[in-house]
Amino acid sequence: MSSAFELNGVTCRFGDLVAIDEVSLSIEEGEQVAFIGPSGSGKTTLIRLLNTTAVPNDGSLSVLGNAIADQSVESLRVLRSRVGTMPQHLGLVENLTAIQNVILGRGGQRSTLRSIRDLLVPSRGDTEKIHQLLERVGIEEKLFTTVSKLSGGQKQRVAIARALFQEPEILLADEPVSAVDPARARDTVRLLAELSRELGFTLCVSLHHLELAKEFFPRLIGLRHGRVVFDGAPDLLKDQQLESLYELTADEMMTDA
Ligand SMILES: Nc1ncnc2c1ncn2[C@@H]1O[C@H](COP(=O)(O)OP(=O)(O)OP(=O)(O)O)[C@@H](O)[C@H]1O
Ligand SMILES: [Mg+2]
Repeated sequence: MSSAFELNGVTCRFGDLVAIDEVSLSIEEGEQVAFIGPSGSGKTTLIRLLNTTAVPNDGSLSVLGNAIADQSVESLRVLRSRVGTMPQHLGLVENLTAIQNVILGRGGQRSTLRSIRDLLVPSRGDTEKIHQLLERVGIEEKLFTTVSKLSGGQKQRVAIARALFQEPEILLADEPVSAVDPARARDTVRLLAELSRELGFTLCVSLHHLELAKEFFPRLIGLRHGRVVFDGAPDLLKDQQLESLYELTADEMMTDA
């Protein structure tokens, strides 16, 4: 099996702030991995590095066997289309319908003119495919509903369908279940894990809900201050490690107060 991601000493800085600090890890194709860690630990930055919207300041990163530092603009574009992302706040356009939002998931793969036409008059093929996708995520009756009229859980399903529309080999989901009740959050995380197994894509999800990460993911990667402090199966995560993963230092308590 080959690697979905290979990171070697990857560092990402914002000015003086080190958001990802010399991270080395490898994620194999077909794995399901949850990134856990407190707010500000670097989960979103890691996901942005993996989908190549952020670039390492140091170290090397390969995506699906391609070292990103060596890619031309065109090959980077092709590589990006093989990696789907559900962003932290879903990134849906509220005043467009579910089907239009899913079509937008195809992003840069078509000319602007063609994209606008697809959006205004979806082809029969697209409509059928999106209907099937929405059926699989359980909201097929919402195909032509404006996203602003959907519940939080339904919006998450539109965002999943949108990310899957381009048939990615990898799906990255950044905090996909914030702002819904626990039962809805569990349904969505379970759906993502099921889809990953069923369709065979690699799944990397950042999650605040530790219980959900433990329940649905065979591998957890714990981040703190941009470093990997845990990498393994959930049952190897000891209470003590959890405490040190999430406990606030004296400095952070002062900042939070
Ligand atoms: N574009 C940016 N410019 C400056 N600093 C940034 C930027 N993006 C992230 N950071 C900083 O990098 C660190 C890691 O942020 P990141 O968003 O990756 O954390 P996170 O684990 O996703 O947090 P949360 O759980 O709150 O979403 C934080 O200290 C944050 O303030
Ligand atoms: Mg984040």
